[in-house]
Amino acid sequence: MTTTIALAGKGGTGKTTVAALLIDILAKRGAYPILAIDADPSSNLNLALGVPLTKTVGDIREDLLAEVQRTQMALGVAQRDLLDVRVRMAVEEGDSFDLVAMGRPEGPGCYCPVNHTLRQVIDLMAESYAYVVMDNEAGMEHLSRRTTRDVDWLLLTSDPTVRGVTAVGHMAALADSLGIAVKRKGIVLNRVQPAQNGDRPIPPTVQAMLDRLAVPVVGLIPDDPLVGRYDAEGRPLSHLPPDSPARRGVAALLDRILFG
Ligand SMILES: Nc1ncnc2c1ncn2[C@@H]1O[C@H](COP(=O)(O)OP(=O)(O)OP(=O)(O)O)[C@@H](O)[C@H]1O
Ligand SMILES: [Mg+2]
Repeated sequence: MTTTIALAGKGGTGKTTVAALLIDILAKRGAYPILAIDADPSSNLNLALGVPLTKTVGDIREDLLAEVQRTQMALGVAQRDLLDVRVRMAVEEGDSFDLVAMGRPEGPGCYCPVNHTLRQVIDLMAESYAYVVMDNEAGMEHLSRRTTRDVDWLLLTSDPTVRGVTAVGHMAALADSLGIAVKRKGIVLNRVQPAQNGDRPIPPTVQAMLDRLAVPVVGLIPDDPLVGRYDAEGRPLSHLPPDSPARRGVAALLDRILFG
């Protein structure tokens, strides 16, 4: 049984940060094997995790299509086996998790059967992992093109603001209408400021909006200056200390979604 967790949300709200910490916490708990999927074309999950990235699935598709043109090779029944072997070459194997980056999507208007086969290959590969954590690009529209597999948890990240939560509400509705096979959805409020002078960390107007949404808040991740500093210095988030507020927030999120 594979548990698949996908991150989605507005740009810059913490998808990659939360994905990287989820992967790191699962790995440190020994919840192997773990597959990290970077489905953002401007791939940077590997940086947050501190692992190299040599080839993306998009590179493999382009190489193969160029080869087909050059050699007039027919992409027939052997296509799937061929892609299977090559996709496995794009998997960066780490000590505690594997990573595959999707890279550039197909060009506009391109109907490439290869993409369909690629998705199948990746989905099949994912089945041999206990956990799959997928970081996505901003917005919801791309998600359905990226995977055909069931998502156990779709985590929608937002900052704790009226605008952020409005966007999350739209995305939750969009996920339903896109027909993505999502078992459960949850909102992750990121960059929550510590409560000061009796103020609540979530402004009452934002809380009232959240209460009206059908999607529960499953995580509150504090604003953590170390996250910004590590990103600025290009240090992987996997090196954040055990007591860092962001790491603790994501650990609590993971417990909530895995154990209720
Ligand atoms: N809990 C946090 N505390 C402090 N800074 C944070 C926190 N979470 C994220 N950030 C900062 O916010 C910025 C955006 O975070 P991140 O890259 O994770 O967002 P994203 O949703 O993946 O963005 P994109 O849509 O560009 O992929 C980064 O500079 C990161 O350092
Ligand atoms: Mg990101």
